[in-house]
Amino acid sequence: QAASKGGFKHFMLKEIFEQPKVISDCLVGRIDKGKSEVKLPELNEFPTPERLHIVACGTSYNAGLWGQHLFESWAKIPVTVEIASEFRYRDVILNKNDLVLVISQSGETADTLACLRLVKSKGIPVVALTNVVGSSIAREANASIYTQAGPEISVASTKAMTSQMILLSLMALYFAKRQNNLDKDILKNALEGLSSLEPELNKVLPKLREKAQELALLYSGARSFFFLGRGVCYPLAEEGALKLKELSYIHAEGYAAGEMKHGPIALIDQDFPTFALAFNDSLFPKVKSNIEEVQARQGKVIALTHEKTSLTTVDNLWIIPEVWGVLNSFIALPALQLFSYEVADYLGKDVDQPRNLAKSVTVE
Ligand code: G6P
Repeated sequence: QAASKGGFKHFMLKEIFEQPKVISDCLVGRIDKGKSEVKLPELNEFPTPERLHIVACGTSYNAGLWGQHLFESWAKIPVTVEIASEFRYRDVILNKNDLVLVISQSGETADTLACLRLVKSKGIPVVALTNVVGSSIAREANASIYTQAGPEISVASTKAMTSQMILLSLMALYFAKRQNNLDKDILKNALEGLSSLEPELNKVLPKLREKAQELALLYSGARSFFFLGRGVCYPLAEEGALKLKELSYIHAEGYAAGEMKHGPIALIDQDFPTFALAFNDSLFPKVKSNIEEVQARQGKVIALTHEKTSLTTVDNLWIIPEVWGVLNSFIALPALQLFSYEVADYLGKDVDQPRNLAKSVTVE
């Protein structure tokens, strides 16, 4: 087993460090630089949907929430993102020009599979985004797009989410280009940015781990945590909170930063810290004022941010290198994963096999 962990203490850590390679594996054969085009022949047979419904569970659901931003802003396709266990029991309204995208690392999650079957029975096409060739979801979908994450052993999903986000980016670009809906500069920046992610992440991962270790020492005693973000950082905040509770059993909530004032901020005091995602983007001033609201209630703040925001007034600054636009998520996500990993390891938890959890939930 030690050998299969490749010298890492846990599978989770190994899988976090595999992410640069996973990114490049997911891009192989997908980008035609000359034509500034994305190649996703799996989608050629489907007309551009009037509405896209993304359905998933757990971490795959958070990836879907993240992807929604790209489909809307790049491809101009209206998107709903649904928790599979809710979607299957609602009277969901699906129209004949809609498309459903199910996301499942394992391809076996019972609720997601049930949604796929339900949607197909209504004559609406289903595309699967999955990591496992030959899985039930891959077999039953009208088409499957495979994430090239390789086997994920750790129960808590890490590299699978990164691989899903890469493919979601490619899908959004694919539909955008097909409809001529995308500014040329955005397409160029996105394609170049995706191609540069592997070396960038390889360089930064050891530094992210060091910082995560430092923060774990300071914050492992917390009993509760907020993770806040806006825009693409909101799904990342949800994922950061999910990872922390899964691994360390510390209560954590991911929140849309602007929603805090509608209740959750009542919980803040000096013992309830906040992990804020504050990218150097158009939403930064808003996130900054949300951070100040937390601080005004004596809440401690870790801020994951970029140098250019010039944010200084938090308890712990975590400055990460800045890449292009939404692709900053691919640096922030491993930072969140490593933070939870280090807290859980510091607390002596069973990182690869957290209590009460299963890798794949094949019963309802
Ligand atoms: C379980 C796993 C999670 C995973 C979720 C959905 O709860 O512990 O890590 O995100 O199932 O799994 P799927 O295979 O459908 O992506």
